[in-house]
Amino acid sequence: MDTTIIGHRTPRVDGEHKLTGKADYTVDWQADGMLHGYPVPASIAHGVLETLHLEQARAMPGVVDIFHHDHFPELYRSPSSAAHQDQVSEVRLPFEDERIYYDGQYVALVVAESFEQARAAAHAVRADYRQEPGAVASLLDTEQEGRLLESEGVCRGDPDTAFDQAPVKIDHTYHIAAESHMQMEMHATLAEWRDGRLIVHESSQGVVYQHKALARIFGLPDEQVEVVSHYIGSGFGNKLFMWPHAVATAAASQMLGRPVKTVLPRQQDMESGGNRPASRQRLRLAAERDGRLLSMRHDSTTETSFVHAYVDSLGSATPSLYACDNVTISQRLLEVHHGTPCPMRAPGETSGIHALETALDELANALEMDPLELRRRNYNRSDPAKDLPWSSKHLDTCYDNAARRFGWQHRDPTPCAMRDGDEFLGWGMATASWGAMRMSCAARVELRADGSVMAACGTQDIGTGTYTVVAQTVAELTGVALENIEVRLGESTLPAGPLSGGSMVTATTLPAVAAALRDAIDALKEAATGEGGAFEGSDPQRLEIQAGALVDQQGTRVGFAEILTTLKLGSVNGEGQAAPGDEKRQYSFRSFGAHFVEVRWDPGISRLRVSRVVSSIDIGRAINPAAARNQVEGSIVMGLGMALTEKLDYDPRDARLINNNYTDYIVPCHADMPDIDVELLDNPDYAFNEFGARGVGEIGLTGIAAAIGNAVYHATGKRIRDLPITLDKVM
Ligand code: MOS
Repeated sequence: MDTTIIGHRTPRVDGEHKLTGKADYTVDWQADGMLHGYPVPASIAHGVLETLHLEQARAMPGVVDIFHHDHFPELYRSPSSAAHQDQVSEVRLPFEDERIYYDGQYVALVVAESFEQARAAAHAVRADYRQEPGAVASLLDTEQEGRLLESEGVCRGDPDTAFDQAPVKIDHTYHIAAESHMQMEMHATLAEWRDGRLIVHESSQGVVYQHKALARIFGLPDEQVEVVSHYIGSGFGNKLFMWPHAVATAAASQMLGRPVKTVLPRQQDMESGGNRPASRQRLRLAAERDGRLLSMRHDSTTETSFVHAYVDSLGSATPSLYACDNVTISQRLLEVHHGTPCPMRAPGETSGIHALETALDELANALEMDPLELRRRNYNRSDPAKDLPWSSKHLDTCYDNAARRFGWQHRDPTPCAMRDGDEFLGWGMATASWGAMRMSCAARVELRADGSVMAACGTQDIGTGTYTVVAQTVAELTGVALENIEVRLGESTLPAGPLSGGSMVTATTLPAVAAALRDAIDALKEAATGEGGAFEGSDPQRLEIQAGALVDQQGTRVGFAEILTTLKLGSVNGEGQAAPGDEKRQYSFRSFGAHFVEVRWDPGISRLRVSRVVSSIDIGRAINPAAARNQVEGSIVMGLGMALTEKLDYDPRDARLINNNYTDYIVPCHADMPDIDVELLDNPDYAFNEFGARGVGEIGLTGIAAAIGNAVYHATGKRIRDLPITLDKVM
């Protein structure tokens, strides 16, 4: 498809709103008569709440009510079914029983006239607990194995025999600490009830899901609920599904008959608002002396809480990434006494690919082979897990381009051999990959008499640029200028759209918008060729839309605004649906890429820095290359934190979170930034959808920590198998 705006750098259409403060983030929303909620978190991780002392808090200025186990409405649990789109992050309802399952679990919600009053009173609530021994802080602190998940198991060929008989093999175990999403905008809910109807503003990656979950929990018909999330200060997966603070806030608003807003403080967001679970992974790889993989065994354990079984699927990419006949995957789940984990950017595969790509580097060393060459020797041209050809795979070009831009051919393979003054240089690489997903989606479009176009879909823009790519699609298909296009997202009452997760919004939403647009254009042609229309009596099929006008074969053009005005029509409307067809039976869809990393290690002053990252990523067509590159760059920064600094520290004595703040949980800052060079290939994947886009957002995070760790090994000669690679491990 020849395009003029799709596939071209396009400034964010919502940029002005963000810069001028017009963007309505949930935290900023106000409602008449609004009260403020502030949760009281448990200060133990394992035990029973015996007594809440509320007298002092109740007497404080502005306090309206305090909700807790003995003062809370009876609600239903959401079935939390992905198929029925009522998934929640934690099935347990707030204050459901008096057991404490994790540090930071809510024991009360204080509601007051102002935020400050609610916070002050929450701090004045005292609780007596009966603490129980044996709190498990993390799978990193226990020998417990967890239960085997049959659903996650994969086996092809005979991996055990192949491993035993192979000439070259490695067998190592890798640990990754739990991480926090550390999104800018806190989890926040503003709930109000109008005539029995629940209206919720939430910083949400999935308004449709939250809508359905709230309807189930409050026993309401779907029409009686509305969830709004126009702007989101990012989410990274912790805002995909509703958390208990939203349920507690909606219930408080119902009981009090006034709007209630709850904005979690950072500490509570970190304790009970989701995390990437810690993991343990044993990788056993075996190869021929020429590098061909003979056996891959990937056995993982991840954590979940005692109140919700969240599974981070660590082995899901492993069977597909390389040519190998003998592969086995297993996964275990271990319950620990900290807040419920949830998806975090490229969930599962970020951790799984980290272990696999580190293990491949170790195998390359055992083979005395260049690690890039090892990957090339195991390149596959079809998906061995599904026995289907890839729809479009250009990983070989990613390897070639990134290696060339990086200068990989100048690498001395010996660890500690490359120096620059006092610094040792380390060069490492890894493969990146993320599956391409697409769901069904609906959209609505209006062509209006003022010459503007409105496109609406019940998905949301979490900061990735969804408003812009939808506007680009409308502009491309109508020729209307971007400034005359209005995009409405983030309302659950709009035609149902996807979660902003899994990097699937672009591939899912744009075909539905295009279908709705075509429907609206057909309606316009119908009107224009009917009685009194600008093209009365013409064949509608012979009209085309160009630059916002209908044009006939003689070249007569009439703008759609004029067509509608003449007919006294305010607008013509179109509705559209789009869903994947049977393409998944013909192809396997996955995006691939490669990261090359340079680190600098100065042993004299124990300084370890990432100095250079060169990445080449193939996501099919990037609808907006500026926004897409931005996603990969952001992922690289996140991966830098994962590799070197980020770790949720749970006290092994009592399972309480120690570093629940920005001071002690260390994310990379500007001064840590390397030179980042991201190339996006442009190979539209038309088997996936008419725009050729597989989506972007998450792939950049896969493999980056492994590439950094592999570079650290090359610089220092030390293989650090536990993330983060803090200085104490390198010295
Ligand atoms: Mo992503 S974990 O699907 O926001």
